[in-house]
Amino acid sequence: MTNTDQRHVPVLFKEAIDLLRVRPGGTYVDCTLGLAGHAAGILKLLGPDGHLIGFDRDPEALDLAKVRLGRVLNELGAKAPRITLVGEAFGNIAGHVEPASVDGLLADFGVSSLQFDEARRGFSFQADGPLDMRMDTRQGPTAAQVVNEANERELADLIYEYGEERRSRRIARAIVRGRPVTTTEQLSRIVASAARTMNHERIHPATRTFQALRIYVNRELDEIRTLLEAAPKLLKPSARLVVISFHSLEDRIAKDSLREGAQKGVWEILTRKPVTAGEEEIEINPRSRSAKLRAAERR
Ligand SMILES: C[S@@+](CC[C@H](N)C(=O)[O-])C[C@H]1O[C@@H](n2cnc3c(N)ncnc32)[C@H](O)[C@@H]1O
Repeated sequence: MTNTDQRHVPVLFKEAIDLLRVRPGGTYVDCTLGLAGHAAGILKLLGPDGHLIGFDRDPEALDLAKVRLGRVLNELGAKAPRITLVGEAFGNIAGHVEPASVDGLLADFGVSSLQFDEARRGFSFQADGPLDMRMDTRQGPTAAQVVNEANERELADLIYEYGEERRSRRIARAIVRGRPVTTTEQLSRIVASAARTMNHERIHPATRTFQALRIYVNRELDEIRTLLEAAPKLLKPSARLVVISFHSLEDRIAKDSLREGAQKGVWEILTRKPVTAGEEEIEINPRSRSAKLRAAERR
């Protein structure tokens, strides 16, 4: 087992695989391969006539997923399904997947532990690295470009909107005064000095600002909206959709989109309340604490 495997625990694994209802010979899409924990679980159930299509817009993640899934395919031998990997954002899914061809679609939003734990990717305020935060390192502005080039008002708005941070104006002012800001440590220090933790808060003062920048840099909410809009067209009747979100902004989009779809007769919602991790899983994998899984069946 490599270091990476040890670190990686797929969130709500059993619940996600069960709700996807993977059938041998079917076509399944994993929109967020990451370290391919969920995808490996799907592969093992697909059989030789099955097909897994996997997306990840992070080239490093895609390479690692390829290695992990390659190992699973080797183990499966003659029972191995077909597999197609796409190194693009899942917002482009409609360009890669035929309409009404999919039996199950999974999306496990956000960053992977690999991205978060790697200081040089710039996602974490707990390790010093360049202020990057791009999932797709081939394109788009870095977080450093955003904090150094946006005006104070734009910064305050995005920190408020994507971080749900009430102290956004004070933080934006401090960032503008502290420019140029080039490292995670520097940004974390600036935010902490502008917005000290309230006594009742358990989170680090920079948590919300880092979340906001990450969502903005990767256009995460637009990606989710595009995916949820495309999904009904790509799924066969009775096919399943499973989405896992990690904060209220993501979950709200999923919840509203499924509810609207249910009203229009597109979805039957399978999770009246979102599925969350049990004590045992949270103990092994603290990140699962904030996970919310929602599932629906295409009518
Ligand atoms: C939480 S991890 C997924 C973990 C995965 N389920 C597993 O079992 O290892 C999310 C992954 O999705 C990728 N990702 C996030 N948003 C994406 C998007 N819009 N398009 C493609 N990949 C995305 C990230 O690069 C990251 O590798």
